[in-house]
Amino acid sequence: MIVLVFSASDKGGTGRSVTSCNMAYWLSMTGLKVAYLDFDFGSPTAGGTFEISRIDTGIGDGIGLHSYLLGDSGFPARVSVRSETDRVELSQSRHPSGRLVLFPGDHSGSEFTTLDEPMVRRCTALFATCEQEFDVTFVDLSAGRSIALALALSATRSAQLAETVSRWLIFHRWTRQHIVAGHSLVYDEHGVLGTGVEWGHDREQLRNSIRYVRTAVPELNDAMGLRPAQAAWLQRQHDTLNRAAIRNEMGSTVVLGRTPVEPMLQCREQVILDIDVSARIANPETVDAFRHLATRLMNRAVWERLE
Ligand SMILES: Nc1ncnc2c1ncn2[C@@H]1O[C@H](COP(=O)(O)OP(=O)(O)OP(=O)(O)O)[C@@H](O)[C@H]1O
Ligand SMILES: [Mg+2]
Repeated sequence: MIVLVFSASDKGGTGRSVTSCNMAYWLSMTGLKVAYLDFDFGSPTAGGTFEISRIDTGIGDGIGLHSYLLGDSGFPARVSVRSETDRVELSQSRHPSGRLVLFPGDHSGSEFTTLDEPMVRRCTALFATCEQEFDVTFVDLSAGRSIALALALSATRSAQLAETVSRWLIFHRWTRQHIVAGHSLVYDEHGVLGTGVEWGHDREQLRNSIRYVRTAVPELNDAMGLRPAQAAWLQRQHDTLNRAAIRNEMGSTVVLGRTPVEPMLQCREQVILDIDVSARIANPETVDAFRHLATRLMNRAVWERLE
């Protein structure tokens, strides 16, 4: 099964990119060929997260995705994460048939302000190429309702991609405002569904291709050393947030998974490896969460439940 995965969020700083990079890494560790397209044109961060210093904040020379989509370069640059990462443990941690290839954004890119037919054609051609070469392609969109979002929705409607399975992940933190924002990104007039319908998508089909990822959710276990009053307060907030999620059509049936608060990621955006867990720097629950998200992403039953 060949899959295009669109990572979106309403707010910035939700954990969309870091979680997507980690999911992409863990899928490549199962032997899949994975592409990661940095469509956050104003702030391409994936190079930094994969610890590839030469493209820490996007690629130079006008050969990134932004330039490609504008027609300024014939082919977008691609970078093998394991060949180019500065992190030795990441370069050595591989599955014999797995691949992880980053299509970086341009260092000097910016958000698009208009969308035209040639851009849609180039984007469609890019997705079609990825479909031929990779098992899974992540497309990390910028936060909010961007042109990149409309571009993704228009390209996936083209006849060339009619057989492609598209999945949408909406990332949000586990707070009241983030839940409301996640809902509005999907359901508001110019949200994913509204824009999708404008471009010819079937609303229900598109809705069935959306799942939510709750990021950096505080744990309520004793290990956190919470005072009783804190634990009781947090439990009440969790209950309130669960009710808010249900009210906002983001309840557990449409949740792909959640990630716990991870101290390592609070200090640095990166891929967490098994070696970080065995060195007891990263929490095992965090890697379990990324693996769980990656597994569920590829599990058809998870996506067919609503149909
Ligand atoms: N589970 C987690 N626990 C703690 N911190 C996290 C967790 N997930 C992500 N972070 C941190 O949160 C910050 C925001 O994450 P990230 O950059 O992935 O978000 P984003 O939604 O892609 O943001 P932007 O809109 O700026 O692109 C980063 O510093 C990241 O390391
Ligand atoms: Mg990001």
